Amino acid sequence: MGKSGFPKKAIFICEGKKCGKYSEVRKYCKDAIKANGLKNEVELIRMGCTDRCKQAPVVCFQPTNAWHTEVSEKDIQQFFRKYIS
Ligand code: FES
Repeated sequence: MGKSGFPKKAIFICEGKKCGKYSEVRKYCKDAIKANGLKNEVELIRMGCTDRCKQAPVVCFQPTNAWHTEVSEKDIQQFFRKYIS
């Protein structure tokens, strides 16, 4: 955590009605955080619907502000390497 007690990085996961059906996305992110020993650096945050339901599931990586849609497990691993670890 940073000095303020807030994480340096965060992954926002849409858990609205449509994206919420892809509960495995949260698990993939959790696993990646754990595998990389980044529990204190990265926070997973639930978002409400972002009005992109047709492109579910929606994930956003911060602080890069990289939004991705229709993410798969493979995508999550790739994005995690790119934006987080
Ligand atoms: S439920 Fe995720 S964009 Fe609507």
